[in-house]
Parts: sequence; structure tokens; C-alpha cells
Amino acid sequence: MAKNKDGKSTGSNFYTVEAYKLARTNIALSVIKQGCKRVMFTSAVANEGKTTTTCNVAAAFSKQMNNRVLLMDCDLRKPSVAKFFRLKNTPGITNYLSGMCGLEDIIQVVPGTNLSVVCAGLIPPNPSELLESQSFSDMLDILSERFDYILIDTTPVNVVVDALPLAKKVDGVAVITFAERSNYVELDKAIESLKRFDAKIIGFIMNGGKIRQHRYRYQGSRRGYY
Ligand SMILES: Nc1ncnc2c1ncn2[C@@H]1O[C@H](COP(=O)(O)OP(=O)(O)OP(=O)(O)O)[C@@H](O)[C@H]1O
Ligand SMILES: [Mg+2]
Repeated sequence: MAKNKDGKSTGSNFYTVEAYKLARTNIALSVIKQGCKRVMFTSAVANEGKTTTTCNVAAAFSKQMNNRVLLMDCDLRKPSVAKFFRLKNTPGITNYLSGMCGLEDIIQVVPGTNLSVVCAGLIPPNPSELLESQSFSDMLDILSERFDYILIDTTPVNVVVDALPLAKKVDGVAVITFAERSNYVELDKAIESLKRFDAKIIGFIMNGGKIRQHRYRYQGSRRGYY
């Protein structure tokens, strides 16, 4: 069941659930390689639905049999994945990187699911340096041995630089936009920045679009899809 950022269910809305499943399929088809596939989600500016989308897409991935899925909250400035799944934000990435705890201590599993989550941890004074560090790359490599997919929630690229170096460490970048909230100028700027960091942009996901109800019916069938 899809959820919003406050952890509240948006109901088993057919369109919402299908949209996240479609995003999952498109991502899976866009990142073809052996071993762990790493995908990060970013946007041009704040509040375009990165966290909501990353969490719901990660949940959709984890529902597929045999998929070992890890969701990482790399928005070290304003972490919100923990709140989304009602987990603890600490200890998390920053605690591990500063040697305060081991890797096992920061991997949580969302109750009743197969979805593993690594939350952000204590808010550090130097988030971009931490995400750019060799220690963070090493951490990603260790986690990549254990998971089929690592999905990463990040910060908006036009606001802070944190997500840009991360783009080099992943196999694909999904850019989130929000209907009637995002604009072309900001989006262009974000795409240019991502390209400068050799990001492989695998697609765009638009949130908040209005649904026009179409009715599809196979010829000769009385059953329809709405
Ligand atoms: N598909 C959607 N439909 C309607 N509202 C949405 C959708 N996705 C997100 N929202 C709402 O938009 C707001 C921002 O969502 P969210 O926190 O996921 O964005 P964000 O890009 O992660 O923000 P930030 O840049 O602050 O991290 C929230 O109030 C959330 O409930
Ligand atoms: Mg967010």
C-alpha cells in the first residue's frame, strides 16, 4: 500500500500503486548489470517528492520475490526516511562513518516487509564531505555485496551540492519533479549539473499529476480496466 511522507497510507489507490510499480519496472529495465544496482533519486529544488517517491519505489522493489533491497537516506541535512517508515534515524550513516558503531547496527528492517533501511544518523556539520569520502564509497561497496538494489534518497541538486558527487557512485539517477511546482529553468540547471558529474540520468518521475480516468476494454471482453 502506497504511503505519503507522514507515514500515512494513501489507500490502496489503484493508480498510485500501479505508478510506483511502473517506476520500479522502468528502473529495473534501465539499469542492467550484474550484481548490485545502485540508483539515486534527486530533484532540482526542495519539496518535489524525492523521499515519498524513493520510499514507495523501494517498497515496491522489496515486494518482488528474491529482491534484496536497501533504502539509504543520504539526505544528511534533512533526513526523513526514518519518519516515513517509523524507524529510528540514529544510529545511521554518519554514526557508522565516524566509527561510533558497526554496519550491522545501522541496518534496520521495516517491520512486516523485506525492505532494509539505513537511515541518515546524527546531522553532521559536513554532509557533502562525508558523502564524497572514500569511507562512504567503501561503505557502499560493502553493502553492494549484500543487496541486489540500493536506492538512495538525496538532497535537491540546485540547493546543495551533496547529491552531485554521489551521482558518480551510482548506476543511475532518477530525477523527481512535481506537477505545477517544478519549472523548466530549475530542471535544466539540475540536468546540467548532473551531467557535469557524469550522472547517468535514467528518467524523470513526476509527482502530483492529475489522473484522467481512461477506460480500457479489450474487444469482446466485458471486463474493463479503469
Ligand atoms: N505523489 C505525490 N502526490 C501528492 N503529494 C505528494 C506526492 N509526493 C510527495 N507529496 C507531498 O509533497 C511534499 C514533499 O514531499 P517529500 O518530502 O517526499 O519531498 P522531498 O523532495 O523529499 O522534500 P525535501 O527536498 O525537503 O527533502 C510532502 O508534503 C508530500 O506528502
Ligand atoms: Mg526529502
